[in-house]
Amino acid sequence: MPTVYLNGAFLSQEEACIPVTDRGFLFGDGVYEVIPAYGGRLFRLPHHLQRLQNSLDGIRLENPLSAGEWEDVLNTLLTHNRDQGGTDNDQGVYLQVTRGSAARRDHSFPATITPTIYAASSPIPPLDPTIEHNGVAAITLNDIRWQRCDIKAITLLANVLLRQQAVEQGAAEAILVRDGQVIEGSSSNIFAVVNDTIITPPKSERMLPGITRDLVLELADKHQLPHRETDVDEIMLAQADEVWITSSTREIVPVTQLNGRSVGDGRPGEVWKTMSRHYRAYKTAVREGLAD
Ligand code: PDD
Repeated sequence: MPTVYLNGAFLSQEEACIPVTDRGFLFGDGVYEVIPAYGGRLFRLPHHLQRLQNSLDGIRLENPLSAGEWEDVLNTLLTHNRDQGGTDNDQGVYLQVTRGSAARRDHSFPATITPTIYAASSPIPPLDPTIEHNGVAAITLNDIRWQRCDIKAITLLANVLLRQQAVEQGAAEAILVRDGQVIEGSSSNIFAVVNDTIITPPKSERMLPGITRDLVLELADKHQLPHRETDVDEIMLAQADEVWITSSTREIVPVTQLNGRSVGDGRPGEVWKTMSRHYRAYKTAVREGLAD
């Protein structure tokens, strides 16, 4: 049974309970992060903690822990669950902070707030080799989410419904489009390769600023792969030579079928192969304590 962290205590998952009046449960009033750890080392922790801070600021909730306290909690959690992490000790951390409980259900903030802090970790399964070989299918769908998708809110109903629609059409991801512009996936960011240039939409309140997205751009810079943050419309996406989705859990996944049509030649592309190699090398450096 894995250990979880709840409000200052490390408990077995079975023992951990929250009141039914928790505003996360009643309103989805909270934010979260998903952070991979490779070889027991948290990947890009300062970036994730900064995004957590931005999300908390976005919902006007004070950060209950300092960066150092977060680091201690998450590292202790990883140590508790060390045996569940497989031989490589690769684990994914999930953390969430909600606005806590109040006696009465009321949309406005309660007068006194004790946030609920929860964190759990579980083994990261090895990447599926068929995905590396064949890529995945995706479909485009109308983005029905709210206007502040830059906040990593636990309120994910629209994302859930969109992903389910994709799955029911045999696709691994729903790529979301607003006013003809490609925004991101239901739980990933989006890249395309057009005329040998890697392109991705610029950050805005309409998308989550992905940590993997930032790293891909950093690696493109470092290895001098042509890249640009620019608006991507549906037509550009449909005509792109390559399409990728990125996230902390899925890393960089080539999309080889889009709306039932092949992307490029229908195989993972050469630019993806190059980027994927750089990403793997970066992960190895993290494991060896040479990068974070
Ligand atoms: N989701 N966009 C959305 C809407 C996401 O939910 C995610 C990640 C991303 C990619 O962000 P990052 O590279 O920082 O993981 C983009 C996580 C993995 C989740 O909800 O489980």
